Amino acid sequence: MSFTIAIDGPAASGKGTVAKAVAQHFGFHHLDTGLLYRAVGKKVLARKPGGFPPEVAEKLAKALTPKDLADGGLRAPDISKAASQVAAIPGVRAALISFQKTFAKQEPGAVLDGRDIGTVICPGAAVKLFITARPDVRAKRRFQELRKTDTTLTFETVLADIQDRDTRDRARSTAPLAQADDAVLIDTSDLDIQASIVAAVAVVERVYSAR
Ligand code: DC
Repeated sequence: MSFTIAIDGPAASGKGTVAKAVAQHFGFHHLDTGLLYRAVGKKVLARKPGGFPPEVAEKLAKALTPKDLADGGLRAPDISKAASQVAAIPGVRAALISFQKTFAKQEPGAVLDGRDIGTVICPGAAVKLFITARPDVRAKRRFQELRKTDTTLTFETVLADIQDRDTRDRARSTAPLAQADDAVLIDTSDLDIQASIVAAVAVVERVYSAR
């Protein structure tokens, strides 16, 4: 039977890096589910720069292909915002469910990271992690990353964007960002990448070796 690991948490918590490393450690498949919403966000922006008609976004979500996820430009700040906006549209979320559920069942195992993996997509996951960090720490990480390509960016703008996205992701009525009751919390505020990975692998290892 396949082994599914659900990793959720807010933006820039380190969950993506941890998910990738955990998948590599155990030889599992990995899906960054944020890329699905980012790809839809990018397509909506290209079509209708001024607004987000829900039915257009839903149609684009239904037509998404794996090639759309390989787009290197999906991390841009305007796409982060658009992703968070399209993610609040119930029809968009519904269109992306079956792809994620199928991905999660792959042998020998799969790691999915996002906002609703432990609560909605894979409620029966073998291990659930909720990875978080203080907003100022997350903003600092994102600021350092984005400053490499945009020197006009200020820390305050990045912090405001992150807080804005947190609020929208937590407040939406369909599948909001939330820690599943049975998820293990890892706060990476005072951990570097390596220590965060070690903590996550240790939690998974306990369950995996006892199976
Ligand atoms: O993980 P990320 O920052 O790349 O995600 C981008 C946006 O997509 C995020 O603001 C909310 C949305 N998202 C979601 O609603 N559900 C997921 N499972 C993953 C991402």
